[in-house]
Amino acid sequence: MRVSMIGTGYVGLVTGTCLAEIGHHVICVDNNKDKVESLKNGEIPIYEPGLDPLVKKNVEGGRLSFTTSIEEGVQNSDFIFIGVSTPPKANGQADLSFVAQVAREVASVMDDYKVIVDKSTVPVRTAEKVYETIKRYNSNKIEFDVVSNPEFLREGSAISDFMNPDRIVIGVESERAQKMMEELYAPIKCPLIKTNVKSAEIIKHASNSFLALKISFANALANICELTGADINEVVEGMGHDKRINKHFLNAGIGYGGSCFPKDVSAFIKISEDLGYDFKLLKEVEHINDLQKELFIKKIEETLWVVKDKTIGVLGLAFKPNTDDMRNAPSLDIIKQLEKEGAKVKVYDPVAMPHAKSMLNGTTFSKDVYEVAEGADALVLVTEWDEFRGMDLKRVKELMSHPILIDGRNIFDPKKMEEEGFVYKSVGR
Ligand code: UDX
Repeated sequence: MRVSMIGTGYVGLVTGTCLAEIGHHVICVDNNKDKVESLKNGEIPIYEPGLDPLVKKNVEGGRLSFTTSIEEGVQNSDFIFIGVSTPPKANGQADLSFVAQVAREVASVMDDYKVIVDKSTVPVRTAEKVYETIKRYNSNKIEFDVVSNPEFLREGSAISDFMNPDRIVIGVESERAQKMMEELYAPIKCPLIKTNVKSAEIIKHASNSFLALKISFANALANICELTGADINEVVEGMGHDKRINKHFLNAGIGYGGSCFPKDVSAFIKISEDLGYDFKLLKEVEHINDLQKELFIKKIEETLWVVKDKTIGVLGLAFKPNTDDMRNAPSLDIIKQLEKEGAKVKVYDPVAMPHAKSMLNGTTFSKDVYEVAEGADALVLVTEWDEFRGMDLKRVKELMSHPILIDGRNIFDPKKMEEEGFVYKSVGR
């Protein structure tokens, strides 16, 4: 089938490439000329394991191409996916101006029946607005349907999430569009959840908000554990065996970051408010998440007593492992606060350093874990890269001025760290 993916950001590029991989002909459209040029030259603008060879393979196979022309995309496709960004406005609301712009442009060049698919994370009722906009600008009265097909891709494992999803949600109200969507996703074996358009839109917000809620719940529990002498990992293990709860997304630490959870939770709070419902539960999810970073900084301060003039090594910058994404990364707030208090901060991240360089001033970037450890009064672990799990603890200890490790992701065993001679602090243990 023929697909246009408008917007080659994270979701657009991964989804477009994967749709080509399952046999469709995909044209990725973006209005950023430089980006399209780079993509045409095989340069992938994001770090996502496995994406590079998949783009190459599908371009060479003639199923994937890139253009700046919406007209070219739309007129050679049956499906028009809208995958442009919906950044947060100052009040937490999602900015839908890019979606609206695309809807207008698509309407003006449509030449035949099209299924317009909302892929971007958007507030409930956006599909309705997209429908109205296309109808208004559709001067040739071409038939079309608007479908909501939310994405649930995690950065770092987006390709396998696409190929082996827990479910595919399709919000659709026309039989013709439904049949086409079923055919499009036929190669993927998983439950296909068909809903009305508004339910599909809410499913996306509800899913991300619920996962954020689980994380904040675990972080709140971790604080209770610290106050009582319980161990959060043991508590989660005990809870997680109950199938109704399960252990996923209950890892306590320094809170959630990234491009989705912070944005989507605050957007859902705002959407609810606009609808007349005060979603206090979600406000508390956000509050716990902010507090978690503050408590972690406090832990560093208490352990070091005086932060001024201390050399602190930070392990990890990305908001989570296997990505170079620095959006809403807790590392930024932590580093900036330590520097504000007069600490000298050295950092190392396996892939996020090039992105982070423009976001940090005065921070020293190191080539590996051992360069960070050299002369450090403390190490602070912010991102749970496997590389850190496997580091040579003896060597690290010898290189440090003081063997203090404050672990924001609970990746080490406190007993083992004590045996290794570290002053080891983690979260909720
Ligand atoms: C998320 C959703 O998982 C995905 O379905 C959606 O489409 C986009 O948003 P992503 O932002 O890539 O994906 O990351 P995810 O793996 O969900 O982690 C989000 C944040 O939560 C990270 O900062 C991570 O460190 C944190 N987290 C996750 C925890 O603190 N504890 C956990 O148990 C799990």
